[in-house]
Amino acid sequence: MSELEKIAKQMVAKGKGILAADESTGTMTKRLSGVNVESTSKTRLKFRETLFSAESMKNHISGVILYDETIKQKTSSGKSIPDLIKSFGSIPGIKVDTGAKKLAGSPEEKITEGLDGLRERLTEYYNLGARFTKWRAVYNISNKYPSELAIKSNAHALARYAALCQDNGIVPIVEPEILMDGEHSIEDSFIVSEEVLHTTFYELYSQNVQLEGMVLKPNMVLSGYECSDQADVDEVAEMTVTVLKRCVPSAVPGIAFLSGGQSDEDATAHLNRMNQILGNHSPWNLTYSYGRALQAPALKKWSGDVNNVPDAQNEFYKRAKLNSLATYGKYDPSMEE
Ligand code: 13P
Repeated sequence: MSELEKIAKQMVAKGKGILAADESTGTMTKRLSGVNVESTSKTRLKFRETLFSAESMKNHISGVILYDETIKQKTSSGKSIPDLIKSFGSIPGIKVDTGAKKLAGSPEEKITEGLDGLRERLTEYYNLGARFTKWRAVYNISNKYPSELAIKSNAHALARYAALCQDNGIVPIVEPEILMDGEHSIEDSFIVSEEVLHTTFYELYSQNVQLEGMVLKPNMVLSGYECSDQADVDEVAEMTVTVLKRCVPSAVPGIAFLSGGQSDEDATAHLNRMNQILGNHSPWNLTYSYGRALQAPALKKWSGDVNNVPDAQNEFYKRAKLNSLATYGKYDPSMEE
């Protein structure tokens, strides 16, 4: 088995998932101001260190996606952040896209940038300890969108990124995210998810990306936030599993979902139901790569006070543990009590 395959398998190992802690400084500032904490490089580090040094890292977190600022920071005891993560047997990763910008030719849509100079940045991040990366493309659903142009250009960029990562000994997380914003129905989300995933895998194939050495990070198939008819857990799980079966080759070792603004409990319940449906014969391990759905209760509890660190770590433990159970299909909402 190649080194890339080994890492990809570890990232999606049963019972574990990925912590997405790669918020840009702008997004992190929004999150911190939500709990009345001023955003400085120190406070961003303090919160992230609270998570990365928690007990749940050992059994429930296979890898952590970092942001450029964090991968270069050191803990209060002088350890580098990647070393702290590795000390729990977890793998450090890094977001390498530089954000979603206006798409020329369809300016209401977005194209993710960051390919220029990527090879050099990959070498730098590898030397800092990163063994996997993330690149996120975003698509909006409306009457007009996403356009074929947005779907094709983002798929092309995702595949270029993935091929470059593998060329540098790094496992790419390929993240095409169809946003929940809007009034669209779950059926609309299904149709768009299918087209986006097909196009993405076509490009990955065209650019010689080794499917065994990557991880897919998709959205779940959901009703839009403002849709009056919200799909229930069974519908979400069944439609998501159907679209994945149609589009994702079984050579891909694992699928690690983003939470995308779902409530913490919904994100866990949906993952759990999908694993129940697929059972032991699933072609891929289905797990979590959540940002908000793993961090939100811990952030609220922490609120910038060092005395709250143990309670914040307990909140993180709870979400990580329940999502870990969901990877076995053994979660029950009564466990939230
Ligand atoms: P959420 O789980 O908060 O959607 O974040 C995951 C992520 O990495 C988005 O790019």
